[in-house]
Amino acid sequence: MKRAAPISDLLLPADLERGLGLRLLGRRVIYQRRIDSTNDLARYLARSGEPEGTVVIAEAQTAGRGRRGRSWLSSPGAGLVFSLVLRPALPPGRAGRLNLLVACAVAAGLEEVSGLTVGLKWPNDFIVAGGKAGGMLIEGSLAGGGADYLVVGIGVNVNDAAFPPELASRAVSLRQAAGRSFVRREVLLSVLARLEEYYLDPAWRKDFSRLLDFYRAHSTILDREVTVLGSGGGYAARVLDVTENGELVVRNGEGATKKLWSEEVSVRPDTGIDDKDDKLVS
Ligand code: ATP
Ligand code: BTN
Repeated sequence: MKRAAPISDLLLPADLERGLGLRLLGRRVIYQRRIDSTNDLARYLARSGEPEGTVVIAEAQTAGRGRRGRSWLSSPGAGLVFSLVLRPALPPGRAGRLNLLVACAVAAGLEEVSGLTVGLKWPNDFIVAGGKAGGMLIEGSLAGGGADYLVVGIGVNVNDAAFPPELASRAVSLRQAAGRSFVRREVLLSVLARLEEYYLDPAWRKDFSRLLDFYRAHSTILDREVTVLGSGGGYAARVLDVTENGELVVRNGEGATKKLWSEEVSVRPDTGIDDKDDKLVS
């Protein structure tokens, strides 16, 4: 995982701000060579009153995080890790939409820049060629029924040639899947452009059907058998749908339909689970 970035592929703010030309995202870019977690700095800034649109980006994270305290490993110079500060004015109960919106925008941006097909594995994985090429972690504080701020953290494996042993069976990079490398700045710009377009489109706050259709079409688990893992253990289920608020609708073995929140569970495609340590075994 130690590969220095070629000089031309650094993510310097001046290059980014020039390339961006967006109305909202990247109005301010904070660039760090090394940081614990871009989400942590973005959250600190958001709590200190940072306006929305700021992008925090780093070459290397020393404590990158996934959901439920899991770690996110990224290779300096090969991976892309960044976080956005957003302050969406969302009606109460609608915050879950943002997860779907971000997932759709990242998938669209990655597909456009790479020509690859990007699948969405609920709730936060980006799947390319059967492996995990990226993930997102949305954290925030909700006030008065709406979001005071949200931090949207995104990690993408762009040019990794290989992964450490603990990730090798699950992770994939765009480069491995496409057989060519990518300029990380272009990948970032493509994702931000789609995020901004979707986020600023007033339609998604009212009519979510178009994005939901996109999400369904990209889902890697819709209509499939999965194992749902929660605090009380795991059970087999079939994925029926995703709701516009981001819940996963499943039917369990007894035929009961349940709506799952991403905070409560992990979902594994039914390829075999080692239930001792919750790792995929195939
Ligand atoms: P879930 O389906 O519950 O989201 P997950 O296995 O996708 O489960 P996350 O909670 O999203 O896990 O946590 C991050 C996981 O991603 C880590 O457990 C690790 O296995 C994996 N991971 C860490 N770094 C990378 C990476 N660069 N590429 C692919 N996968 C990674
Ligand atoms: C996942 O586990 O699938 C989500 C991973 C999210 C990783 C990104 S990298 C940028 C931001 N900073 C973090 O510490 N996590 C997110």
